[in-house]
Amino acid sequence: MIQALASTAERDKEGDESGMRVTEHPILGGLTPGRVVQIVVDGKKIEAREGETIAAALLAAGIRVNRYTSKRHEPRGLFCGIGQCTDCVMVVNGVPNVRTCVTPVASGMVIETQHGSGGRAESDEEV
Ligand code: FES
Repeated sequence: MIQALASTAERDKEGDESGMRVTEHPILGGLTPGRVVQIVVDGKKIEAREGETIAAALLAAGIRVNRYTSKRHEPRGLFCGIGQCTDCVMVVNGVPNVRTCVTPVASGMVIETQHGSGGRAESDEEV
């Protein structure tokens, strides 16, 4: 189960004002907050913690939509959280279909909401 910091004391200790930072991940294990770095999401700079997943950083910043489906243009966001469903894929540093729930943040990453297949043939896309 993915856990976030629960109490105000825990959030203050970890510098997590939102209380939405992921601290335990079923695939990646315990996540110790690293130094604060900046990433760019859809042209907007946000703070993230080195070592946390991109999806965790987005959740902490209040961003819930990672992609839009190709045919119906429906929003998708974090679902399984363990790299299995592809609902969290985004364009990261120009590379489409990156599973943000299992990809660690790195300073200076440029992340974009993915629309459709992110460059694959649209006929291959799920609805
Ligand atoms: S949320 Fe399912 S693969 Fe990332």
